[in-house]
Amino acid sequence: MSFQVTTESVNVPLIGERRRVDPCTIVIFGASGDLTARKLIPALYHLFESGQLPTPFRVVGFARREKSHDSWREELRAALEQLSRTKSVDAAVWQRFAGNLFYCSGDFNDSAAYGRLKLLLEGFGDESLKQNLLLYLATGPSQFAVVAENVFQVGLLHKWEDGADHWQRLVVEKPFGRDLQSARLLNNDLTRHIRERQVLRIDHYLGKETVQNILMFRFSNAIFERLWQRETIDNVQITVSEKLGVGSRGGYYEEAGALRDMLQNHLLQVLSLVAMEPPVSLEAEAIRNEKVKLLQSIRPLRPEDVARQVVRGQYFAGAIGGEPRIGYRQEIKVRPDSNVETYVAVNLFVDNWRWSGVPFYLRTGKSLPLSASEVRIEFRPTPHVLFAAREEASMMPNVLTLRVQPNEGISLAFNGKVPGTNSALRQVQMQFNYTSEFGAYTPEAYERLLLEAMAGNATLFIRRDEVESAWKIADAIREGWGAKPLTNREFYSAGSWGPVAAEDLLARSGHAWHDPQPSV
Ligand SMILES: NC(=O)c1ccc[n+]([C@@H]2O[C@H](COP(=O)([O-])OP(=O)(O)OC[C@H]3O[C@@H](n4cnc5c(N)ncnc54)[C@H](OP(=O)(O)O)[C@@H]3O)[C@@H](O)[C@H]2O)c1
Repeated sequence: MSFQVTTESVNVPLIGERRRVDPCTIVIFGASGDLTARKLIPALYHLFESGQLPTPFRVVGFARREKSHDSWREELRAALEQLSRTKSVDAAVWQRFAGNLFYCSGDFNDSAAYGRLKLLLEGFGDESLKQNLLLYLATGPSQFAVVAENVFQVGLLHKWEDGADHWQRLVVEKPFGRDLQSARLLNNDLTRHIRERQVLRIDHYLGKETVQNILMFRFSNAIFERLWQRETIDNVQITVSEKLGVGSRGGYYEEAGALRDMLQNHLLQVLSLVAMEPPVSLEAEAIRNEKVKLLQSIRPLRPEDVARQVVRGQYFAGAIGGEPRIGYRQEIKVRPDSNVETYVAVNLFVDNWRWSGVPFYLRTGKSLPLSASEVRIEFRPTPHVLFAAREEASMMPNVLTLRVQPNEGISLAFNGKVPGTNSALRQVQMQFNYTSEFGAYTPEAYERLLLEAMAGNATLFIRRDEVESAWKIADAIREGWGAKPLTNREFYSAGSWGPVAAEDLLARSGHAWHDPQPSV
């Protein structure tokens, strides 16, 4: 099978620069799975619809189940209608898009299957489609090494040389290991035959517009950047709350817990963007260097610090919005005496000149009152000399809130005088809302990430040393917990904002959590 095609790269605006996306083939390993149907194909469809994919391009799905090209296409179309962000599929666009989708069935352990994959790619004719390959491992980490080895052995993956005409990149999904040791082994396996820069580790949080905006906001607004330091900032809170419980993912969650599932990756990624030093350029390596430096500046936690600076929790039965919720220990595939944390809060310190002494409070949990992600930066108060004696002048701190979701935007809280003859003050808000400013179009994180991966821009992907630095922090916490069972103060009712112990964590320093508010 061969195709006569005209080739056309597309120029796409990426972080920091415009880059070319060359004609290529995206090979998805694990193509009959949930991630492919839920995220990858919808993202590729929307990119195609908006003219952001190169001409030509192909998508090849590889998985164990037997399917024809047509039956895979039909399944994907049905999934797209349900799961895409627009919930609709344009028949003509789909027709043109689906003609680029192909399926190859085989077991990851069967080297002959990779031979069939290679034949399929050769049938595409065009050199770019045969050799520019985005090899997407949409499968569990235990399969990464065997797939990477087999694609290398069959000649579909080559070590990238400067100036090479074609490229191959491996995209991998979290979890990147379950501790530092396993992450190192995994990273060794992934880079056995290729360069680190060919490995793109996805943390989908980095694909979100508002997470990317943290960098842009910080480094393009002089008024804030000047204030971004210990003399003006009192404390920083990062909250990623989830309304859902573990649902059908109990088996996975029993092995992961909130620390591995969320804190080690999403929260530490957001923290590094909020607190890193300005990079020397917007090039991927410059940004990633600063993120690693930040993670390495976090004060190491000794086991005795963990007792003081970290709180874990687990939800018991409760209710959210009037709906009853079962407890974690009653969830499917969860041990009835499980000690796995569904909530974690930590007080970290960044030991560098900018942040010395400023507490960073991070928390994440399941079965909380609402799903939200936000960063709250609380500024130090002005000297109270002017208002101290006046009861009516209740001063609140200035607060800058970066809302990642929902209701994406930024707000600034400050004190304003209540109209009238006295000197009463009230906290008022200045709001920037993404949707009202830029319209409703916000691409899915995976659209951005796939496009950047095709263009070879690694800014939004996590480098090996970032992953390993983050695991050091998570491992120290786990070591501090040891095998100790959860105590009463660590349980929380589903629908509450977490365990009592988490309130104490901040109260000791005179602070309190500020919970995200439902969007209006
Ligand atoms: N689902 C999500 O929304 C999501 C979000 C973030 C990260 N992730 C991560 O993405 C990865 C994939 O998740 P998923 O939910 O898509 O998993 P999944 O639904 O279990 O799919 C796994 C895929 O791998 C294939 N597979 C497994 N063993 C195989 C073998 N020996 N040979 C050939 N194919 C094999 C399966 O093919 P058959 O079914 O044909 O056997 C299936 O296509 C995981 O690491 C997950 O943690 C998923």
